[in-house]
Amino acid sequence: MFYWVTHCMVLVLLQIVLPALFVFVALLFSLIVPPFGKYPALELQPWMYEEQFTFISEDVPEEASTKRLISALLNNPGFGTKCMKDRPEDTPCEGSGSDWAPPPLAPALMDMLLNGNWTAEFPSPGCECSSKNNKRMLPECSAGAGGMPPPQVPRNTGDTLQNLTGRNISDYLVKTYPQIISKRWEDPCAVTDLGICTHSAEGALLCLQP
Ligand SMILES: *[C@@H]1O[C@H](CO)[C@@H](O)[C@H](O)[C@H]1NC(C)=O
Ligand SMILES: *[C@@H]1O[C@H](CO)[C@@H](O)[C@H](O)[C@H]1NC(C)=O
Ligand SMILES: *[C@@H]1O[C@H](CO)[C@@H](O)[C@H](O)[C@H]1NC(C)=O
Repeated sequence: MFYWVTHCMVLVLLQIVLPALFVFVALLFSLIVPPFGKYPALELQPWMYEEQFTFISEDVPEEASTKRLISALLNNPGFGTKCMKDRPEDTPCEGSGSDWAPPPLAPALMDMLLNGNWTAEFPSPGCECSSKNNKRMLPECSAGAGGMPPPQVPRNTGDTLQNLTGRNISDYLVKTYPQIISKRWEDPCAVTDLGICTHSAEGALLCLQP
């Protein structure tokens, strides 16, 4: 009789009490949640990613809507909301830009681009893409790929506006994007007033004092 009662108690413990206990413990763990709302809301804006390039191409310059769009891009408040009235102080407006001018180019490179035998099908030096034998993340472009740098103007928001009117835009974009991406992500160290700085994976600025 004593043996039977003990056996029965163990069975009750194993089959009823223990599973219920596990569920209870699991429910307790579900109460541990990370504290939400600890950080202030972050406004998403393109300037989080540093220098921004935008381009225009005046394909139908005589059209009124084209003129309106270009004058909106060239006048205040310009791009986005950064230079609108009543903006918070932490997104400073950088004052209106200067004139349209192409960025400086090495004389030898300019010579090569001006005197090369470029055609509509082959408007500028080429790039080498990833292939079966040679794997790479980004195309490797020869100097001057994409052609002469287009005239550009700095805008009050810190953006750079390029004028690609009359150019082969796909050729320019395909051959210059590796340059922009590698400048943004691969240039690991920059020397600044704070020392040698780099961006962590989370985007924070890490600096090493000299
Ligand atoms: C430029 O290329 C075209 C077509 O390939 C050729 O006929 C012409 O002779 C070339 N001109 C020069 C200066 O190399
Ligand atoms: C862009 O370039 C074209 C061709 O060079 C020129 O006609 C046009 O006026 C330029 N646009 C602006 C806004 O400067
Ligand atoms: C633009 O350039 C590419 C080569 O990068 C060429 O294949 C294409 O035909 C060109 N487009 C025009 C409209 O000339």
